[in-house]
Amino acid sequence: MVTVTFITADGRRVAAQADEGARLLEVAQAAGMPLEGTCEGQMACSTCHVILPPDWFARVPRASDDEDDMLDLAAGVTRTSRLSCQIVLTGALDGLEVRIPGEFHDMQRR
Ligand code: FES
Repeated sequence: MVTVTFITADGRRVAAQADEGARLLEVAQAAGMPLEGTCEGQMACSTCHVILPPDWFARVPRASDDEDDMLDLAAGVTRTSRLSCQIVLTGALDGLEVRIPGEFHDMQRR
């Protein structure tokens, strides 16, 4: 099991447990986080945008060029932003902290 702590836009901490191999987006949704994930992991919407603390950002496998391109379009993007649909949980990510941004931008609904 991998434990992930979500930090909501209003500062609440919500801990969740997930199996290794689960996608961060699904774990966040199961924990009640308001990530729409409209495109279901096709890297076409950016509504699964999350922000990682810098130390965790450095430990998560790097984003692909396609993910970086989509992140450029996300609202409130930061240097440690990621698309949660592209992060697969492994034992190395046990204890991961993830901040949920306060604004969203659905690229499929303009
Ligand atoms: Fe659409 Fe991640 S769910 S980009």
